[in-house]
Amino acid sequence: MADLLGEMRKTHTCCELGAADVDREVVLMGWVQRRRDHGGVIFVDLRDRHGLTQVVFNPTVDQKVHAKAHVIRSEYVLGVRGRVGKRPAGMTNPNLVTGEIEVMVTELKVLNAAQTPPFLIEDTIDVSEMIRLKFRHIDLRRPQLQKNIILRHKAALAVRQYLNGLGFLDIETPVLTGSTPEGARDYLVPSRVNPGQFYALPQSPQIFKQLLMISGFDRYYQIVRCFRDEDLRADRQPEFTQIDLEMSFAGEDDVMQVTEGLMKHIFMDVMGLEIKIPFAHMPYADAVGRFGLDKPDIRFGLELQDVSDIVAGSGFKLFSGAVKKGGVVKALNAKGCIDFSRKEIDDLTDFVAIYRAKGLAWIKIREDAWQSPIEKFFTKSEKEALAKRLDIEPGDLVFFVADHPKVANEALGHLRNLLGKKLNLINEDEFGFVWITRFPLLEYNEDEGRHQALHHPFTAPLEEDYALLKDEPLAVRSRAYDLVLNGSEIGGGSIRIHDKNIQEKVFEALDMDRATYEAKFGFLLSALESGAPPHGGIALGFDRLVMILCGQPSIRDVIAFPKTQKAACLLTDAPAEPDKNQLAELSLRVTKS
Ligand code: AMO
Ligand code: AMP
Repeated sequence: MADLLGEMRKTHTCCELGAADVDREVVLMGWVQRRRDHGGVIFVDLRDRHGLTQVVFNPTVDQKVHAKAHVIRSEYVLGVRGRVGKRPAGMTNPNLVTGEIEVMVTELKVLNAAQTPPFLIEDTIDVSEMIRLKFRHIDLRRPQLQKNIILRHKAALAVRQYLNGLGFLDIETPVLTGSTPEGARDYLVPSRVNPGQFYALPQSPQIFKQLLMISGFDRYYQIVRCFRDEDLRADRQPEFTQIDLEMSFAGEDDVMQVTEGLMKHIFMDVMGLEIKIPFAHMPYADAVGRFGLDKPDIRFGLELQDVSDIVAGSGFKLFSGAVKKGGVVKALNAKGCIDFSRKEIDDLTDFVAIYRAKGLAWIKIREDAWQSPIEKFFTKSEKEALAKRLDIEPGDLVFFVADHPKVANEALGHLRNLLGKKLNLINEDEFGFVWITRFPLLEYNEDEGRHQALHHPFTAPLEEDYALLKDEPLAVRSRAYDLVLNGSEIGGGSIRIHDKNIQEKVFEALDMDRATYEAKFGFLLSALESGAPPHGGIALGFDRLVMILCGQPSIRDVIAFPKTQKAACLLTDAPAEPDKNQLAELSLRVTKS
């Protein structure tokens, strides 16, 4: 490249020249954002990651260079030497940092030509995400994405500074490993030298960070890639990044304090924003009861109410029947929404169906009467009780879902979030942090007919609930905590089991027999017997946090090379069929159904 650049060496970025540099000779290098030919004078906006500078090819300054500039097109890569000039009166651009000056070019090097780009390098473009992802290297030139990626770097730096300051050690853990259960499917990697055997990519470094505590590295952290084969959503990627940390001799308060301090430092360092700590705490049961979800957006009201007791004996069989079967009837009063049209209500009914609600009953509260297909089923006293519980006033629209608690809560919880946005109830400048605590240790997976860990199998039960482990496992509460920000789960952690006997009891409560858990986790059980300190930690979803810091709706906008909903990389065409010889080497044969 020395030949191509010759004597030319970049002296400035495209954002730093101003009035003070007038008459200075400079060399800029970058991409052609825009080229305009104004009756003989050619203007080019030259762009690099720092900004834009207008460079001018004027035949009266240098005829040869001007003639050469005719080949220039969008996204060509140029090196230009020239003298900084003040823009003539009326030609300054107050929207541009370099808007007072321009560079009068005396030497031009076309460092590379470029095909016409598939879309403009601007923020507001009307182009499908598929095209953007196929040409991600070009997409990443757009200002918003540049901003996101730079902010992500700053956030990572702030994390390292803060945790290093508290004596945390950055220690790497393996990527080729055994299964690390976090509730998703594993990505498997075949081993050539051990035919028929597979590594699993880590869903998190959970077990390794616990082993590090047992080894005596009492404060560990890592900004680490995790891999989970699960259904993707706007805030989920198959490979994503955690700020993972673990501390020995620590209880919940210690981990929470470090996490709060970390958040405060990131928000100040990256955004210049002062956030208030400590964060509020909310037990899991309250979060689900009041907001329908274990990741409540606490920036607005519209809380859910349980009206099961009021409608248990009502003439509306759908409600009374649901309660009789052990279900619940939950309600949400959409204040002032009486004017929702039939179509809007139908759309909301379709929306709650995504969360498996079988319907969405509603009542419009008019001055003189209640209007609803189900109003006739309620007695006067039932109506009075509903009015009181739901704070009903004329102008309101009340929604109901009757179902299993999980379905009713989830459906109305998501409806609440939707209404919060639709009704503009959310102050986007506010950051709603809340710790969710007192999770159940286990839940019952109906589809698979077994108990599973709500977090992971290494989470400590509350000591006062130990006695319930054997006979009433679903009643056992755990020492887990999640950090929720603006309705998004941005972190989860717990105090861990450090006693082998308790770990075995928990494996058993998870319906594992001794042979199974010894085969899978024997090394951990043996480590727990080797002098394991009490310990706990947390992992924060770094991509989700950056998404919120950047105000971006999609996780893909804060990851340089993300995957699609189908876990594909459109740029490199991964995943792809492997070479036949590679398969043979790995002792694998593919059978497609
Ligand atoms: P957990 O499974 O809760 O805990 O993960 C921690 C955080 O990681 C983020 N996250 C994701 N982000 C993007 N895409 C995904 N597919 C994805 N899955 C999870 C979330 C989540 O809160 N080992 C434990 C932590 C611990 O106990 O210390 C763990 O991984 O923001
Ligand atoms: P139907 O009698 O099926 O016409 O239902 C009457 C109303 O109840 C409709 O508005 C349905 O959307 C609603 N509905 C049906 N099932 C449920 C349910 N499980 N919970 C709440 N509302 C329901």
